[in-house]
Amino acid sequence: MNEKRILLIVTGGIAAYKSLELVRLLKRQGLSVRAVMTQSATEFVTPLSMSVMTEDQVYGHMFDLKEEREIGHIQLSRQADLVVICPATANILAKMAAGISDDLATTILLATDKPVLAVPAMNVRMWNHPATQRNLAQLRADGVHIMDPDEGAMACGEFGPGRLPEPPAIAEQICAMLGHDFDAMLTSGRSPTTVPSGVPLARPLSGQRILVTAGPTHEAIDPVRYIANRSSGRQGFAIAAAAAALGADVTLIAGPVHLATPPGVARIDVETAIDMQAAVEKALPVDAAIMVAAVADWRAAQAPEQKIKKDGGNIPALNLTENPDILASLATHTHRPRLLIGFAAETEKILEHAQAKLAKKGCDWIVANDVSGDVMGGAKNAFHIVTKDGVDSWPESAKDVIARKLMEKVADALAKG
Ligand SMILES: Cc1cc2nc3c(=O)[nH]c(=O)nc-3n(C[C@H](O)[C@H](O)[C@H](O)COP(=O)(O)O)c2cc1C
Repeated sequence: MNEKRILLIVTGGIAAYKSLELVRLLKRQGLSVRAVMTQSATEFVTPLSMSVMTEDQVYGHMFDLKEEREIGHIQLSRQADLVVICPATANILAKMAAGISDDLATTILLATDKPVLAVPAMNVRMWNHPATQRNLAQLRADGVHIMDPDEGAMACGEFGPGRLPEPPAIAEQICAMLGHDFDAMLTSGRSPTTVPSGVPLARPLSGQRILVTAGPTHEAIDPVRYIANRSSGRQGFAIAAAAAALGADVTLIAGPVHLATPPGVARIDVETAIDMQAAVEKALPVDAAIMVAAVADWRAAQAPEQKIKKDGGNIPALNLTENPDILASLATHTHRPRLLIGFAAETEKILEHAQAKLAKKGCDWIVANDVSGDVMGGAKNAFHIVTKDGVDSWPESAKDVIARKLMEKVADALAKG
């Protein structure tokens, strides 16, 4: 297998010195690391130290003739499998949220087509400031993965959230995102069940095959027009990412969306409900299926091969026919997953409709969400998990946070058999 490559962007926080330790740990895990430092970062750590640790040149200047000629900012942004910002200052988070690209680091972040993990570290007041929280919400909505900071005593003498997580925990998170086996013994010499920060080794879905569907479907009316819905795919992608981060072997069947494939996830792109059903069939057997996609209930009964022409005052009738019910067909399939989860996007009588759907579809859980606001395409979601035993309601959270919680619940359920 090819060596996985990380582009590490170090910014100017007091915790920048820990990035050297992070590089050491990542290299011990067999990963390759190339570093970019902001001008402020070089006030905390010398490029020489970083260069010794990465065994490579350190990049920092956009208009450096040698750097730009040898590799160039676009190539730097594309050659990695994962871009990690550690530590991430409040400043770089703000610039990223606004799409500013006024130095090498921010230009790479705007130009990259690879997944990005930001590991923020800052004073607790900077962390809690509404501007920082607003920027974090924007970045999450843009698909940036944010590792929550630790809580505790800070270098500045204050106490609260904002501390950089310990490097072994960051290394573990990076390995999980890359689908790279993390060996705790290599980072700490301690038992492989915990890393030194006390964070449990979070791969409870290891060995489990999980199918996730996401996004809308597009149903042709003619070659240029189609029926669609407002699903952005973000919640399904976040669930697939969380499943992979917890160690699952994930197949993501995605309708037409413009989202980056989460690391370690096998993605199959489809357009229509019929395509999605065929792709689901092909992906079986799996241990759990999480059917998040907003599959169109209907498609045009006839979709002519040529564009329907505007014809005087004659308005064509749109005759609809029902699409296959993918969730219900999985419930009675010979390869029915051990855990089958449907999603119900509702605009009214959320629980009532979800309970009816649970009974009708024959699945194990329905995750109901209220889509009457800006949930479709938004950054947050609230879940009601409806099962035959009752309803578990979770408050509104960022889509990646609630996805992680859902996948932890799935891991528990699969472990119980
Ligand atoms: C001693 C010192 C420590 C700092 N620590 C942090 C920090 O931990 N987090 C942070 O967001 N900013 C911190 N700053 C402020 C940043 O260095 C400043 O916002 C800078 O513009 C960040 O630039 P960069 O994001 O381009 O690296 C610190 C500044 C100083 C002088």
